[in-house]
Amino acid sequence: MSSFPNLRHEDTRRLVLSSSAILLLATGASFISPLAAVFATIMGVFVAGSLFVMHYHRDMAKYNINLAEHFQDLQFLQSQLDLRKPLPYLSGWSASPALASRLYSLIEENKPATILELGSGVSTVVMAYAIQKVGTGKLVSIDHDEEYAEKTRAELKRHRLDHLVEVIHTPLVMTTTKGGPKPWYDISVLKSTTDINLLIIDGPPRHTCQDARLPAFEQLSKRLAPGCIVVIDDSLRSDEKRSLDAWTIDCNNDRSEDIPSEKGVSVRYLN
Ligand SMILES: C[S@@+](CC[C@H](N)C(=O)[O-])C[C@H]1O[C@@H](n2cnc3c(N)ncnc32)[C@H](O)[C@@H]1O
Repeated sequence: MSSFPNLRHEDTRRLVLSSSAILLLATGASFISPLAAVFATIMGVFVAGSLFVMHYHRDMAKYNINLAEHFQDLQFLQSQLDLRKPLPYLSGWSASPALASRLYSLIEENKPATILELGSGVSTVVMAYAIQKVGTGKLVSIDHDEEYAEKTRAELKRHRLDHLVEVIHTPLVMTTTKGGPKPWYDISVLKSTTDINLLIIDGPPRHTCQDARLPAFEQLSKRLAPGCIVVIDDSLRSDEKRSLDAWTIDCNNDRSEDIPSEKGVSVRYLN
């Protein structure tokens, strides 16, 4: 799990800040007397140490909650999917257990006829199982990276679900958006994918550009069916938060649901 409390950039910043504060305090106190400088140093180290311990405990508490939520979601998936093989790990770049279990439930409850996913992977396999279970639905998943598209196809084959999904590799091309030009999927490959009932936005990855997923709504809005459900992964990241704010202005959504998982999953129900 990425949230395990290892030393991170922010910890280094805290260490530098607290050492500088102790040094300043000790220097200031040394003008009073050498004993005051020693006392200030001891106090400074004690306060900084206590803050670090408190922060560590808070991190550990958050980590344990995340772990419990992961277990619960995985248990739910396991109970619902008729798994033929183990799923690839739901961690790191892959869909979180929270996203995977939500996608399963959305398909089971709403039986969407047309599903489009941006960014393929384990989520594609989970949705294929869901489609097989409900007995209806067409899933198209696009990926800008041929290697990952191929991995997803191979995984679908391993689970004998390849006949239920079309995984399409399509490059990122400069796309004009309100936020300026951005590399985004060439969707000319999606000729027949219209009237989308469920849209999953989990790509392109963040490293491709700032606000990499911002064009999604603008580019796909004409292809969405009335009542479409839009799922946005990583909704707690600043880029995705900005995109969600921009979409809120443009889209006519009836209600939204934010799943308080580690990276955040947001579900928008359009009118
Ligand atoms: C957030 S990932 C999509 C995850 C996918 N929905 C899943 O459940 O596994 C977005 C894109 O990152 C790329 N990607 C996936 N795993 C990667 C990895 N380990 N390293 C680099 N890129 C990766 C793929 O091209 C993918 O479409």
